[in-house]
Amino acid sequence: MTIVVTGGAGFIGANFIYYMRSAHPDYRIVCIDKLTYAGNLSTLAPIMDDPDFRFIKADICDRDAIETVFQEEKPDILVNFAAESHVDRSIADPQVFLQTNVLGTQVLMDACRKYGIKRYHQVSTDEVYGDLPLDRPDLFFTEETPIHASSPYSASKAAADLLVIAYHRTYGLPVSISRCSNNYGPYQFPEKLIPLMIANALSDKQLPVYGQGINVRDWLYVEDHCKAIDLILHNGSAGSIYNIGGHNEMRNIDIVKLICHALNKPESLICYVKDRKGHDLRYAIDPAKIHEELGWLPDTKFADGIQKTIAWYLENREWWEEIVSGEYQKYYEKMYGA
Ligand code: NAD
Ligand code: DAU
Repeated sequence: MTIVVTGGAGFIGANFIYYMRSAHPDYRIVCIDKLTYAGNLSTLAPIMDDPDFRFIKADICDRDAIETVFQEEKPDILVNFAAESHVDRSIADPQVFLQTNVLGTQVLMDACRKYGIKRYHQVSTDEVYGDLPLDRPDLFFTEETPIHASSPYSASKAAADLLVIAYHRTYGLPVSISRCSNNYGPYQFPEKLIPLMIANALSDKQLPVYGQGINVRDWLYVEDHCKAIDLILHNGSAGSIYNIGGHNEMRNIDIVKLICHALNKPESLICYVKDRKGHDLRYAIDPAKIHEELGWLPDTKFADGIQKTIAWYLENREWWEEIVSGEYQKYYEKMYGA
């Protein structure tokens, strides 16, 4: 079995590669990644010399490069993690989001049609459903919730989902889609809430909370997301969409305070900054379908996962210190000011 993993030098893709390496040691894994600012080859260093692993630096929008991979590797499965993934960057500059997230998806599926594939899996997001009100805790996103994206990022992911469904209906491509809630865990780029707050707190820098900090996200440990995708690839039906989430809703401010306490840092580091434009209020996944059809349940409780994550950032300072000292610094200054 050969699996192509696009975006495998990023946060979830790399965790997925390590998960699959241990769950299916006999599978060949081919990683395609453009190594944008978010891709980090050092994350894959421990697996680079593995004879059943191959890394290819390529853009998923590059048709020739993608076709060459198909000719050489004849993959059985393709899992598409490659994307521009940060909402704030999409608000500042949407173009590359449409390019990679929509057109890149098309290029990958065209190659799957041309060379054949047993399964094309699109890693999507709960953000395609828009948001839920804060005062209706009884409401959740199901697979039937209408698409209602808020940001250029989520609109690009929603557009890609529609294209994936269209390729299934029109060409019979054996696709599946997963829509997961917010992930956290090792190797997450420190522009995202949890690693940004850990890195800043460790450096005694201010902790910038958008608006009043009352927006709610539904957090899932990254390994549980990887396990769900593995189940969908092997047991999920073609043409299906699966929501993934562990019923773990938390307000941003509570996460930031928890990180302060865990690191023994004062809450006075917290500063409230200008809100994100179009800021989604609440995400909350109903995971009943994946639970009932595939038996998926998360293994890691948030209390344990956040401790493991904080410990990982403490033990792997060189991984994120290199990032925050480089090109990222310019983004940070532009985004958060002095
Ligand atoms: P990430 O930004 O950490 O990683 C993205 C990876 O894709 C990077 O390695 C980058 O180099 C690569 N990439 C970007 N453009 C590319 C291109 N044109 N060609 C090839 N490679 C390219 O993202 P992530 O947080 O790991 O998210 C992975 C996927 O999961 C995305 O599709 C995202 O929409 C989805 N998702 C993320 C979350 C989350 O909480 N992070 C939750 C649900 C879904
Ligand atoms: O829900 C899944 C999505 O989760 C994925 O599709 C996205 O790729 C991923 O980036 C994530 O999107 P969010 O916008 O929810 O994640 P982010 O970590 O950027 O922000 C989480 C919340 O924290 C959000 O309400 C904004 C807030 N926030 C974020 C940052 C970076 C702050 O208050 N301060 C910050 O500095």
